Amino acid sequence: MSPTNPRILPYGEAAIAEAAALIRAGGCVAVPTETVYGLAADASDSRAVAGIYAAKGRPSFNPLIVHVPDLEAAEIVAVFDDAARELARRFWPGPLTLVLPVRREAGISSLVTAGLDTIAIRVPDHRAMQALLDASGVPLAAPSANASGGISPTRAEHVAKSLAGRISLVIDDGPTSAGIESTIVMGRTILRPGPLSRADLFPCEGRGPESPGDSLANPGPLPSQGNKITAPGQLDSHYAPGKPLRLGATMRRAGEWLIGFGAVPGDDTLSIRGDLVEAAANLFDALHRGDASKATAIAVAPVPESGIGVAINDRLRRAAFPR
Ligand code: TXA
Ligand code: MG
Repeated sequence: MSPTNPRILPYGEAAIAEAAALIRAGGCVAVPTETVYGLAADASDSRAVAGIYAAKGRPSFNPLIVHVPDLEAAEIVAVFDDAARELARRFWPGPLTLVLPVRREAGISSLVTAGLDTIAIRVPDHRAMQALLDASGVPLAAPSANASGGISPTRAEHVAKSLAGRISLVIDDGPTSAGIESTIVMGRTILRPGPLSRADLFPCEGRGPESPGDSLANPGPLPSQGNKITAPGQLDSHYAPGKPLRLGATMRRAGEWLIGFGAVPGDDTLSIRGDLVEAAANLFDALHRGDASKATAIAVAPVPESGIGVAINDRLRRAAFPR
């Protein structure tokens, strides 16, 4: 018997009211953000947060991002310095996650931070997530709404397929606009590349050796707290389809599903005109389709290493990592 599919409700007042009731009862709900669909639960309720880990099959050392409605709410749970506040003012709401010292007295479950002294926090730019934050009245922990290690969801159907039998409700508000997870920043270090590039975040800075984590060719050492992983999204294998993935492909080989870009057309093409923002929005959907196709392997055309292309290549490299 196939597992029960979650209910998919279109975004609207009724859907949000039902979702907020579920959250208040300690459950979790899949909800879109501008980046990917998230699996949200009350960040102050350890049992609810445990439900996220269980649904995703996520290793418990991997901390979660907390979503709040605005900077004021963020300052209640995290300690901001001037630099962090300036980034927040420039980019929130939006696809920027800040890693900051956590305020323990705010009551965020230590399961959310996985025992770290810091918290990853962001203000999402999406009506559905904002409405859910408003209606539930609590900070929401929300990792991407997919089984751990799998391809991130940019459509409600991706969530339903990946988490069938594990969650009860998905709010559907169409495909997400950015299509790739938020940029995670700690101090001046980019822990996970995303829709906002280093040039967007720190325009006055020359490209120097103090920019680890931002270069595909040489990501450099990641900062660590003791031997704990500070950004497990940086695990080598992640975002992975069920089939082998070949990168830098300029032609289709026998049995392959080719994901094209620009001058290289494919079964799917990330952006025919070679637009990187469009390509990011299409990336995970293209991987999902390649995975669902009859092909035995997936190949992806080269994507330029600039702007959001850095984040696209980061996800592709991890998706292709031998498991
Ligand atoms: O766009 C996004 O960020 C999406 C949407 C749903 O908001 N969320 C998302 O969450 O990608 P998740 O849980 O899949 O990714 C969380 C990332 C992981 O790489 C995790 O290790 C890192 O954030 N992270 C969380 N807390 C951290 C902390 N205290 N220090 C360093 N990294 C942290
Ligand atoms: Mg994820």
